[in-house]
Amino acid sequence: MDRIIFATGNQDKMREIREILSEPGMEILSMKEAGIELDIVEDGTSFEENAMIKAFALAKSIQEEHTAVMADDSGLEIDYLNKEPGVYSARYMGEDTSYEIKNQQLIKRLEGVPKEQRTARFVCAIAAVFPDGTSCVTRGTIEGYIGWEPAGENGFGYDPIFYVEEYQCSTAQLPPEQKNQLSHRGKALRAMREKLAGR
Ligand code: IMP
Repeated sequence: MDRIIFATGNQDKMREIREILSEPGMEILSMKEAGIELDIVEDGTSFEENAMIKAFALAKSIQEEHTAVMADDSGLEIDYLNKEPGVYSARYMGEDTSYEIKNQQLIKRLEGVPKEQRTARFVCAIAAVFPDGTSCVTRGTIEGYIGWEPAGENGFGYDPIFYVEEYQCSTAQLPPEQKNQLSHRGKALRAMREKLAGR
């Protein structure tokens, strides 16, 4: 196996993926860089299932001997809201609604809720389908809580309202390298790197 094609068009994700999975003799491409266009319906009920759906859809469209394909799915689980928005994180309140509004709405739904009940986590699942048809999936999480107001300019999505106890700030207030060190995606990618060893 000397090539990985990752089912994302997101350049920030690709940078992190390359940083963590790169090794000599291994080429890592995004779907776009590999010239593949796929519209995949993510209708799974878990992050793992969605990552698998995407990875298998991509694997089907690639018949190259030494190529593995990978896909990720991620989102925010808020315990007090029965783990909402969960697999609907990107679609919560509609894809076109700004995160400023989504974040305000989530804070509003937690009005009056004490800190110990505001626990939340980012989750990332990464699925791989190998050239021999076998597959695996890894999961990484970062635990935190939902703050009382958005803060920070870094990151994206729900970062401004997701606070990490250890640093007493939101993940949007952490420098990107530090967030990658702690992040759900970083952890799932490092777990995948272990699975790739020796393949
Ligand atoms: P996807 O895995 O790229 O489809 O991301 C799903 C959604 O989860 C994103 O659109 C964000 O709303 C949310 N999300 C996933 N990871 C993060 C993160 O690290 N920070 C903030 N939001 C995130």
